[in-house]
Amino acid sequence: MADSLTVTDNRTGKTYELPVQDGTIRAMDLRQIKAGPDDFGLMTYDPAFMNTANCRSAITYIDGDKGILLYRGYPIEQLAEDSDYLETAYLILFGELPTAQQQQSWIREITLHTMLHENVKKLMEGFRYDAHPMGIFLSTVGALSTFYPDAKHIFDKDSRLKQTHRLIAKVPSIAAYAYRHIVGRPYIYPDNDLSFTGNFLNMLFKMMEVKYQPNPVLARALDVLFILHADHEQNCSTSAMRNIGSSQVDPYSALAGAAAALYGPLHGGANEAVLRMLNEIGSVAKVPEFIKKVKSGEGNHRLMGFGHRVYKSYDPRAKVIKKIADLVFTVTSKNPLLEIALELERIALQDDYFITRKLYPNVDFYSGLIYQAMGFPVEMFPVLFAIPRTVGWIAQWEEMLLDSEQKIARPRQIYTGHSARNYVPREQRD
Ligand code: CMC
Repeated sequence: MADSLTVTDNRTGKTYELPVQDGTIRAMDLRQIKAGPDDFGLMTYDPAFMNTANCRSAITYIDGDKGILLYRGYPIEQLAEDSDYLETAYLILFGELPTAQQQQSWIREITLHTMLHENVKKLMEGFRYDAHPMGIFLSTVGALSTFYPDAKHIFDKDSRLKQTHRLIAKVPSIAAYAYRHIVGRPYIYPDNDLSFTGNFLNMLFKMMEVKYQPNPVLARALDVLFILHADHEQNCSTSAMRNIGSSQVDPYSALAGAAAALYGPLHGGANEAVLRMLNEIGSVAKVPEFIKKVKSGEGNHRLMGFGHRVYKSYDPRAKVIKKIADLVFTVTSKNPLLEIALELERIALQDDYFITRKLYPNVDFYSGLIYQAMGFPVEMFPVLFAIPRTVGWIAQWEEMLLDSEQKIARPRQIYTGHSARNYVPREQRD
């Protein structure tokens, strides 16, 4: 057999031929390898899924060594240049770019679903004044399942499409309400005359003006940032979405879980850490000293916004973001931390420590600077990530549901506890 792996079990001397397909062997093919008749069969041990493919997916392709990111085959750089978020969302969900007519009805559907039920508003009002907006966001998304009980018909295509429209349209409204809540301003209803990101800016920043006019540069910058964050294959939150969804729960409940995974500082919170780091460095003159600390491991310093589990070259999203930053700063005035970031990047990219470890700027290195310059508090950063990632979560969830090989996710374990023992009555315990 050409595409196969020959394995000899040295415990028994037996040899097995395992098929190799798409560069993988099937873990279940190992089960036949047994040390004796009572043996359960061989398993793999892979904490954090470092080397395990959990699904087949046709949505997003990443080549970490070459710095390539494709959505449905289209390079991220081309989408960031020529597309907008809603068109990219359509592409990710349905596999092809929309025709003019499809695009028109897609935008119409999303625009018609931007309003939140008044009781959702009341629910959000119940949060404490200092509640973290990401906590508000994920709780409210989860609560939507009680407003749309039809969402549990997950094998009904029309129902899935309806929840998709609702989710994509309503997450910016929830995010904006969460922001207005923490800054103590009244919630602003959506304005359906505006674009997706123009309306989002309206719901965030409208004050007493009769009609809010979004700045076109900022609206476009958000559009591009949303494109860049729309999907990233099997990351922590997307795996959570697939895992929870595999229990066949409704998409709102699954998406609340995915958003919870994104809330963590190792996932959606890194751009906040970049800002903290830049503030701590304080000035361009202190950059060499900081780099020295990172290299020596002193104080456990890492260069935040650098390095990636998958990318071992410049994150293609970071390249696009750098350009967007220049554009945004023409409107908002320059973020004073930019000079420090540029100097850090300049020094790190020619330093052996970073070169040999293949540490390059990732998507988070510049995004926080842009969000801060646009007036967002750092707590909003993961929420701004969750809005576009919603499309990736839904697409991956639906792909999982329609994949006949998928079942409820249920990993195995290596048991390290006691063997069976008898219950000890309370009075006999030491
Ligand atoms: N600064 C300094 N050294 C680093 C860094 C860094 N940012 N990242 C990795 N290293 C070193 C690390 O110390 C290790 O060195 P050695 O081999 O001498 O022990 C080597 O590089 C390999 O690191 P690792 O921790 O094994 O790599 P990983 O794949 O487990 O970690 C990472 C990936 C992203 C968690 C890590 O690079 C990191 O902590 N970066 C900073 C945080 C960050 O920017 N996170 C955002 C990721 S992108 C957002 C997303 O897609 O969700």
